Amino acid sequence: MSVNRTILTLDEFTIQQLRDVPNATGELSRLLRDIGLAAKRVNVEVNKAGLVDILGDAGTVNVQGEEVKKLDIYANDQLIRVLKHGISCAGIASEELDDFVAFDDEISNKSKYVCLFDPLDGSANIDVNVSIGTIFCVYKRVTPIGTPVAMEDFLQPGHQQVAAGYVIYGSSTMLVYATRRGVNGFTLDPSIGEWTLSHPDIKCPETGRIYSVNHGNFFEYNEGVKKYITACQKKDKSNGGPYTQRYIGSMVADVHRNLIKGGIFTYPGTTSKPAGKLRLLYECNPFAFIVEVAGGKATDGTKRILDLQPTGLHQRTPFFVGSRLMMEELETYMLIS
Ligand code: AHG
Ligand code: MN
Ligand code: MN
Repeated sequence: MSVNRTILTLDEFTIQQLRDVPNATGELSRLLRDIGLAAKRVNVEVNKAGLVDILGDAGTVNVQGEEVKKLDIYANDQLIRVLKHGISCAGIASEELDDFVAFDDEISNKSKYVCLFDPLDGSANIDVNVSIGTIFCVYKRVTPIGTPVAMEDFLQPGHQQVAAGYVIYGSSTMLVYATRRGVNGFTLDPSIGEWTLSHPDIKCPETGRIYSVNHGNFFEYNEGVKKYITACQKKDKSNGGPYTQRYIGSMVADVHRNLIKGGIFTYPGTTSKPAGKLRLLYECNPFAFIVEVAGGKATDGTKRILDLQPTGLHQRTPFFVGSRLMMEELETYMLIS
C-alpha cells in the first residue's frame, strides 16, 4: 500500500527535525506540541465567539492599563494550564500577568525552557470578527536546572531565543514557528484536528509593496518616520507607483501578511508615547526573531531589536520589521530624524 507522506503534521515535522540533532531531548518538540494544543482550544472558542458568552470585556484592565477581553483571559489560562501540566516548561511570563510564574514543582524545575507570550493579540478585533492571534517565544533558562526559575530567565535579549512563533486565527488557523534552522507554517486541518505543514521554509521577500502603520498618529511621529511614510506614498511610476497601505490592527495578521507577501510593519513612538505601544518581550522579540530567520530585519528605528537588553517584563519599544531592502530604506530616513 502506498501512503502519502508528503503532508507532515507538526509532531511528525518536529520529530523528523530531531533526527538531525545529536543529543536532542525532544523537550522543545513537546513544548511546541503543548502550545499547539492550547492554540487549538483557543481556536475553538474564537470560532464560536459570537455564539457563547465570550465576546466583550471582562470588566478589568491588565498590567498595561488596557481593557481585558474575556478571550484574553481564556487564552492566557489555556496556555498556562497546558504548559504547567506539561513537562517541558519551567515557567512563563504573559502580557496578562504582572509578574512571571515559576511553576516550581519537581518536574517543572527540571525543565530547561521558559516561555513568554501574548495570549491574544489584536483583542480589540475579537468583537468584530477580524483576525487575531497568539504570540510566543522560548528561551533556555540561565538559572540552574532543578531550581525555580527567576526574573533573569525572562529578561534575556531576543537573540537568545531558541524558538518563537505565532498562531493566527484567520480565514484558516495557522501556527508559524521559527528556530534558528528556519521558519515553517502549519495550517490547522479541522477534519483531523492536526497542524499540517502547509508553508515549509518561509522566506520573507527581499522587498515588497506594502507598508503598515497607524496613519491616525501621523502628526505625532518623528520627522524620519513622517518622511518615510511620505516616500512610500510618493513612489513614482519607475518604482511601481505608491506603495499600498494595509493595517489590520492585529500585529499577528499584519506581520504575517507582510512576511508572506513582502512589506514593512511599523509601530513608531509618538510624541505622547515615545516608546510606542508594543511590548518588547512577547510581541516584538518573537516577530524580530521570526522575520530575521526568514531573511528580513527588525529594529527600534535604529537599533536591532534582538540586541536590546530588557529591563522589565512589560517594557515597550518602537518597532519596525519587514523585508530587508525596505528596512534598509527606512534606516536612511531614521538617520535624519
Ligand atoms: P493586544 O491586543 O495584545 O493588546 O495588542 C494589540 C496591538 C497590536 O496587535 C496591534 O498592531 C496594535 O495593538 C494596534 O494598535 P493601534 O490601534 O494603536 O494602531
Ligand atoms: Mn498584542
Ligand atoms: Mn494581547
